[in-house]
Amino acid sequence: MAGLMRAWRVHELGEPQDVLRLETDVPEPVPRPGQLRLKVDAVALNFPDLLMCRGIYQEKPALPFTPGAELVGTVMDGPRAGEQLMGSPVGDGGLGEQVLVNEARAFPVPDGMPLAKAAAMWVTYSTGHAGLHRRARLQEGETLLVHAGAGGVGSAAIQLGLAAGARVIATAGGPEKVQVCRDLGADIAIDYLSEDFVPIVKDATGGEGADVIYDPVGGDVFDKSRKCIAFEGRIVIVGFTSGRFADAPTNHALVKNYSVLGLHWGLYGKKRPEVIPEVHQALMRLWDQRLIDPLVGAELPMSEAPAALARLGERGTVGKVVLLP
Ligand SMILES: NC(=O)c1ccc[n+]([C@@H]2O[C@H](COP(=O)([O-])OP(=O)(O)OC[C@H]3O[C@@H](n4cnc5c(N)ncnc54)[C@H](OP(=O)(O)O)[C@@H]3O)[C@@H](O)[C@H]2O)c1
Repeated sequence: MAGLMRAWRVHELGEPQDVLRLETDVPEPVPRPGQLRLKVDAVALNFPDLLMCRGIYQEKPALPFTPGAELVGTVMDGPRAGEQLMGSPVGDGGLGEQVLVNEARAFPVPDGMPLAKAAAMWVTYSTGHAGLHRRARLQEGETLLVHAGAGGVGSAAIQLGLAAGARVIATAGGPEKVQVCRDLGADIAIDYLSEDFVPIVKDATGGEGADVIYDPVGGDVFDKSRKCIAFEGRIVIVGFTSGRFADAPTNHALVKNYSVLGLHWGLYGKKRPEVIPEVHQALMRLWDQRLIDPLVGAELPMSEAPAALARLGERGTVGKVVLLP
């Protein structure tokens, strides 16, 4: 019979601080063939964890569930026991003591990579790599505009854009976050709460606009992005932290000759599983050269999961927030 463990669980949908409950009698997961059981060592938070608590994410796990989509953990059983792997859990998420991962889609933490950075790398950087390279075909010398550049997904995209030889312009909310974008290497950083980014991007590109726009925010930010996208430009739709899905008028895309590209990294596991190790190996090569280096804005105990998720939803975080048991 399976033992019992502690885990944060959502039994009804709502704000994380209202609906996350720390339980001590959750059955430990039992691996099926092809799966490994990990003791959780570090979990990085993602905006979708918050949206899942609220019940407004595209994936709606059955209640009760445990959020936590990217993590590092130690293999508990079998010949690989003791190995530390990074990956995404199958079934319940990482805000508990143990998870299951698909063995084919979990990879060893490289020597010398701090645990928090390894946890922060998995979903966030894979999303960025797939978005900028597979979807947008970002080229050296092109101009990349990254929205919410001080956030988890945004900071990864700034680093990946610079690593690809692009010129990077970033937006962020408030002077501290703008400074974070500059520190990450953005050539131009704009406080989009106090300034209109459209004329600044146009001025910086000789009136042409950005070749690639990486947009985790949506809403008004997407509407404005359409005004500063270049001829043959590509707008990558990464998320909707603004809370509004913008409309993409097809006549505008035709007249200005640009593309709007959807990005759903989580679907690659089902549709193109071979892409996952390809992207991972590419990221590890970039890490070896320190062309990418995850920005961990906070490392907190897992007991603070509800408050940390609430802060993520209130624009109160920088880079990645990583929770430790
Ligand atoms: N497509 C995919 O496969 C994929 C994979 C992973 C994540 N995502 C998406 O990427 C987005 C970013 O995720 P993340 O975990 O890295 O979060 P994050 O960027 O670290 O945090 C969200 C940021 O969004 C900005 N924002 C703008 N308007 C906001 C509002 N009304 N409420 C809250 N935040 C607002 C804030 O930055 P400023 O204050 O600077 O504006 C905030 O810090 C999410 O939409 C997530 O769902 C997509």
